[in-house]
Amino acid sequence: MAMTGVLRPGHVQIRVLDMEASLTHYIERMGLLETDRDDQGRVYLKGWDEHDWFSVVLRPADTPGMDFTAFKVDSVETLNRLEQSLKDFGCEITRLPAGDLKHCGERVSFISPMGHTFELFAQKDYIGNGLGNINPHPWREDLKGMKVHRFDHCLLYGDDLDGAVKLFTEVLGFQQTEKVVVGPGGSVQIASFLTCGMKAHDLALIRHEEKGKLHHVSFLLRSWEEVLHAADIMGRYKIPIDIGPTRHGITRGRTIYFFDPSGNRNETFCDSYDWYPDHPEITWTEDELGGAIFYHDQQLNERFLSVVT
Ligand SMILES: [Fe+2]
Repeated sequence: MAMTGVLRPGHVQIRVLDMEASLTHYIERMGLLETDRDDQGRVYLKGWDEHDWFSVVLRPADTPGMDFTAFKVDSVETLNRLEQSLKDFGCEITRLPAGDLKHCGERVSFISPMGHTFELFAQKDYIGNGLGNINPHPWREDLKGMKVHRFDHCLLYGDDLDGAVKLFTEVLGFQQTEKVVVGPGGSVQIASFLTCGMKAHDLALIRHEEKGKLHHVSFLLRSWEEVLHAADIMGRYKIPIDIGPTRHGITRGRTIYFFDPSGNRNETFCDSYDWYPDHPEITWTEDELGGAIFYHDQQLNERFLSVVT
């Protein structure tokens, strides 16, 4: 349910140090499907239950991290309207031509106040989820590893959280579903969970002294059993786990965090709640921060809070 023309997270481009090791991780272990490659050496991937041509792009690079993440909008008219709104807000805009990413239409690229590059696009080629659209079976037989269903969201670290929240809520029409506040009277906001539809979050932002950092790229699973199966895959193939399986208080997600071969953090998770636009915003306070982040042991983990790429 798109409230404002922004439909959903569309794709993320991740920098990787060793493409072969990364393909083993993302395809053989996580279960993403390869859908194309380009002459820059980039590899295009998707979760099995996504219908657009790709949602993850791996780019060979010397440093890990995220190049950009994108949201799909419902029409070219919306793309043009939001481009103007972003300009009016003061964002620096770049129009990227159709085909710059294969199978993707024109993209409007902008830099958020926290230093991340975001994009909007209206068109991407359809590839389908492999089940067909007439009398489809409910599942595929050919999936590998964790069998992640889709790219779900990014959690990003950067300095001007207030500015970024203002941009996403006032310009792009997102709603803030949950926030974390600290300091006297909860005067300083340190985290924001934002939705453009009916999920508890389509984007998460954390205040951090350095601009433009990636905390994690997250992929959806559908049950706690699938999360535990993902943990089994991590054990079998010695994939370094950051934390979990556990539950978050924030958004209620049941989750596990781990690292790709380049040191980028990934998440697979299940569960949350349905967000409707008349729901009240949830606030987490400093005294309950442990349980907000890790509900089971109620303890913060320094590595989870501080390691970013
Ligand atoms: Fe997440």
